[in-house]
Amino acid sequence: MTLQIGDVAPDFNANTTAGPIQFHAWLGDSWGVLFSHPKDFTPVCTTELGYTEKLRPQFEQRNVKVIGLSVDPVDDHERWAADIEATQGAKPRFPLIGDADRSVSNLYGMLHPKADSTFTVRSVFIIDPSKKVRAMITYPASTGRNFDEILRVIDSLQLTDKHKVATPVNWKPGDDVIIVPSLSTDEAKKLFPAGWNEQRPYLRLVKQPS
Ligand code: BEZ
Repeated sequence: MTLQIGDVAPDFNANTTAGPIQFHAWLGDSWGVLFSHPKDFTPVCTTELGYTEKLRPQFEQRNVKVIGLSVDPVDDHERWAADIEATQGAKPRFPLIGDADRSVSNLYGMLHPKADSTFTVRSVFIIDPSKKVRAMITYPASTGRNFDEILRVIDSLQLTDKHKVATPVNWKPGDDVIIVPSLSTDEAKKLFPAGWNEQRPYLRLVKQPS
């Protein structure tokens, strides 16, 4: 069955570069980003993993744990980490799952046989502290992902969880946001007493709540 937004992220046991984990227990009360990469010792993946390590403080600030996966064994991940450090200036300190039996890849639908029958595509699952899948992103093997965009999605999700707002096109933290259409004018006046810019009754822009 295809995973959808709102589903509980399937739990699993796996070997990782940080030792064996049970996924839900490892997540604890944190948000999570689970992402697959097609293969160890490949160029695009090398750049992605180095960059993700450099962003680790940004993920931690947002209470997000990051975990990567490929269908290669953990021993290979560990050997590859030295290359990532040498070429990208950062050695991944977040866990990488060794999914040689493809059990996690199959559980999360990361194998797309029409793209490649052996290796995973570039999947990203953003999971909230209640273990629900909140966003999914899928790229082909040849396109490196934009991990700044993943942080931006997390910022949007965490903001919209706290306030009755949505984020517009190309929103960045600090930009104006949109009052959700389900909020009546009277309700909006209580929540946003400083007012808003009403371009249409359904398009009400307001300063980002802090
Ligand atoms: C890469 O990570 O560079 C890559 C992996 C599989 C296919 C194409 C590129």
